[in-house]
Amino acid sequence: MKTVVINVDARHPERKALLPAAEALRKGELVAFPTETVYGLGADALNPHAVSEIFRVKGRPPDNPLIVHVAKREHIDQFVKHVTALANMLLDAFSPGPLTLVLPRSNRVPDLVTAGLDTVAIRLPAHPVSRCLLELFSGGVAAPSANRSGKPSPTQAWHVLEDLDGLISTVVDAGPCQYGLESTVVDATGDRLIILRPGSITASDIRRVTGQEPLQDQKRQSVQGLLAEPIGPARSPGVKYRHYAPRARVVIADIRDQNLSSLVKAWCEKGVRVGVFASRQSLGQLGCLCPDLSTIDRVAFLTRTAQSPACCSVTYGPDPDPVQAGSALYDALRLMDSYSMDVIIAEGLPEHGVGEAYMNRLKKASEQEVNE
Ligand code: TXA
Ligand code: MG
Repeated sequence: MKTVVINVDARHPERKALLPAAEALRKGELVAFPTETVYGLGADALNPHAVSEIFRVKGRPPDNPLIVHVAKREHIDQFVKHVTALANMLLDAFSPGPLTLVLPRSNRVPDLVTAGLDTVAIRLPAHPVSRCLLELFSGGVAAPSANRSGKPSPTQAWHVLEDLDGLISTVVDAGPCQYGLESTVVDATGDRLIILRPGSITASDIRRVTGQEPLQDQKRQSVQGLLAEPIGPARSPGVKYRHYAPRARVVIADIRDQNLSSLVKAWCEKGVRVGVFASRQSLGQLGCLCPDLSTIDRVAFLTRTAQSPACCSVTYGPDPDPVQAGSALYDALRLMDSYSMDVIIAEGLPEHGVGEAYMNRLKKASEQEVNE
C-alpha cells in the first residue's frame, strides 16, 4: 500500500486539504493524524473491520482498549451510557485538551474498541487539525498512538512513517505535537476519580476543579527506574505492557551526579555508544563533550556519507523542566536510535506536576523486561 502524506498548517488547517483524510476514514481506512499530545492512528470507531486493522498494523495486544476521539461534547453521548457528574466537571475544565475519560460504554461501541470491557475511553483533542478532521468525519474515531506497539509514541510525522509507512492509507503531517506525552487517562465511572495514566493534566489540576484528590492506579515508582507492581490487576490494560521503548538501553540518571561523568567516560572508552538526553544546564555540569545531534548533518548521516558519532547528546531546553523534557523525549529516543546509540542516559526529574508523567514514561522506556 502506498501511504499518502497530507501536509497541513497546524494552526489553520484548510478543510479542503483534509477532505481526503475524512473520506479515507469513511471507507474504513487507517489515517494517522496529529493531536496536541501525540499522533494518533485513527479508524471509524463504529466499523469493527477498520478497528481490527489498527490492532493488526500496530501489532497491538487485543486486550488493550482504544480511545474514541470526538470533535464535540454532544458527540460523546452515542458512545457512553451516561456522563457522570465528576466527568462533566472535568470536561468543563479541561476539554478539549490532553484528557481522556473512561466512562460506562453504550452498546453501540464494538467490543474490539473496548477490549470487551464495560467502559469506553473518550477524548476531545484540542489540536486544530484533529478537530477539523473529526468534524469533517462527523463521528467517533478510535485511535491509539500511531506507533508500532512497544515503540515510543510518535510526536512528528516521520516517527509515524518510520513505523507504519506502507501499512496505512494516510498520514496527516502538521509538524511536532505540543505536549509530546500522551493524555491523562482518568476513570470517571464512579464517585472517586482514578488516574489510570498520568499526563499533562495533573493530579493537582484535577483536585483544584473537583475538590477531590484523585486515586492513582499505580504505586509510585522509585527514581532508580525499577517498575513497582501495580496494586492488584491493572485497571487500564495498556499500563501492564512495555512501552515507549527505543532499541537502545535507557538509563535514568541524575545528570549532575559526579559519578556519572566517569561512568560515561568509561563506557565511551570501551566503545559503548552513549547518548545523553538532558537540559543544557545539566549537560554543562556533566562536562560531556558529546556532540549535540542538532549540530550533526542528518542528511549526510542517512546517505552514509558521514559516520554515526561515537557518542551524542540531545538537549531539550535551558534548565531542568518536565514540560520541555516531556515534549522532546520521544523524538530524542527515536533520533538516538537512528544514530545507533547503545545506551541512552536520560535526565531524571522530580516526580511532581508534569514530572510524574515524564518519569512514568521514562521508567517504562527503561524497563528491560516485558512486564506482563
Ligand atoms: O494522548 C493520547 O491519549 C493518544 C492520542 C492519540 O489521543 N492516544 C493514546 O492511545 O495514547 P493509546 O492507545 O496508546 O493509549 C490508550 C490508553 C491505554 O493505556 C489503554 O489501556 C487505556 O488508554 N484505555 C483505553 N480504554 C480504556 C478503558 N475502557 N478502560 C481503561 N483504560 C482504557
Ligand atoms: Mg500508545
